[in-house]
Amino acid sequence: MENKLEKIVALAKRRGFIFPGSEIYGGISGIYDYGPLGVEFKNNVKQAWRKEMFRRQDNIFELDSSILMQRQVWEASGHTSAGFTDPLRECKKCHHRYRADHLAEEGIDKCPNCGGELMEARKFNLLVETHLGPVKDDSSLTYLRGETTQGIYVNYKNIKTSMSAEIPFGVGQIGKAFRNEITPGHFTYRMREFEQMEQQYFVKPAQAEKYFEYWKNERMKWYLGLGVKKEKLRFRPHAKDELAHYAKGAEDIEYEFPFGWHEIEGVHNRGDWDLSRHSKFSGEDLSEVDEKTGERFYPYIVETSAGADRAALVFLIDAYSEDKNNERIVLKLHPKLASYKAAVFPLLRNKPELVNKAREVYLMLKKQNLGPVAWDDRGNIGKRYYSQDEIGTPWTITCDFQTLEDDTITVRDRDTTKQERVKIQELKNYFEDKLK
Ligand code: GAP
Repeated sequence: MENKLEKIVALAKRRGFIFPGSEIYGGISGIYDYGPLGVEFKNNVKQAWRKEMFRRQDNIFELDSSILMQRQVWEASGHTSAGFTDPLRECKKCHHRYRADHLAEEGIDKCPNCGGELMEARKFNLLVETHLGPVKDDSSLTYLRGETTQGIYVNYKNIKTSMSAEIPFGVGQIGKAFRNEITPGHFTYRMREFEQMEQQYFVKPAQAEKYFEYWKNERMKWYLGLGVKKEKLRFRPHAKDELAHYAKGAEDIEYEFPFGWHEIEGVHNRGDWDLSRHSKFSGEDLSEVDEKTGERFYPYIVETSAGADRAALVFLIDAYSEDKNNERIVLKLHPKLASYKAAVFPLLRNKPELVNKAREVYLMLKKQNLGPVAWDDRGNIGKRYYSQDEIGTPWTITCDFQTLEDDTITVRDRDTTKQERVKIQELKNYFEDKLK
């Protein structure tokens, strides 16, 4: 099964989806760059999330807050203290460092690198430090955000006031987060720089349980709706002793990766931890008054916290398929997520009349704004099909000799490999229907 991940890593690099960061300098652990097809693909994942949150759901507002914030934000949130640490064990001999909980899970008590003795576990803070301004001392210390969430809390009042928002309402955002992970790994599963897609739903305390259930189910439906196999997804409630410092209740949506079942998204009932703490630390009162009882309360927060890179990895793994002889790789991505929506070929590259006609169709489709369209006239037609299958292009269009006579082309479906003839004038409607 791990082999499958290796194949995906190789495919992602070979076909311009994901490259190791700073590769020509030997790489940098936990950092990856998205290539041309990867940018399209990950943007489609993010766009699918934005459409779900800000178009389909009701009363959710979008935010784009900054990566750098006042250092007190991270003190109020609990991230500078024990809450945002992982247990670390270091080898006394080679000084390799490991997550103590991961070693314990595998029953390992000696250094996996050199067999040396390991130090006792200690807490290691995951925030990435930086300094702002010309003087590099304690007063200029701040952090790259460890989660996008906090930018939403510090803007709670701004959004509520400017948008005349009434509880219950939500605020969501997509953005980079940084964590000094002790052991990044499994490709883009655990990175040190990554993107989150987080949404905070502000509710009255008595409504928190109801919305927790609502959001859990809505988020599961999102993955299913984008084609992830049902049997590969499950909920996992957090045990009391693994709840994050802010959480009253939490469930992970897990996916069965080639390296086992692991979290792809967390749904958390954060109680009143966040707004009460930010009120206390900032001096700005973020409480509300219940219009019926007249009582003051801090809104409870139900959070849906997904990783854009982790979701993208799930879509890649879930879509990856090989035929019986391991010769034909097909990335069966949902058409909405595929980097190219279609590819256009001339049947033969040495027949100018076919090339010109195919070029016309290609430029027409590009103008029609269906999304990115690929052009390929290399090698033979079979190779071009396989090349597009491997990157998940759902439909390939070929201009052949009949095209020159009746203005029809063949459209081949990636998953069934069936072909049908369609009139060039009808292509726009044909694809719009398919992409609905
Ligand atoms: N605001 C809550 C929060 O950040 P989390 O469980 O620490 O909760 C939420 O992270 C999601 O962010 C995870 O489910 C995962 O998808 C993504 N994520 C977290 N750490 C990550 C990492 N090191 N690399 C890639 N994605 C990560």
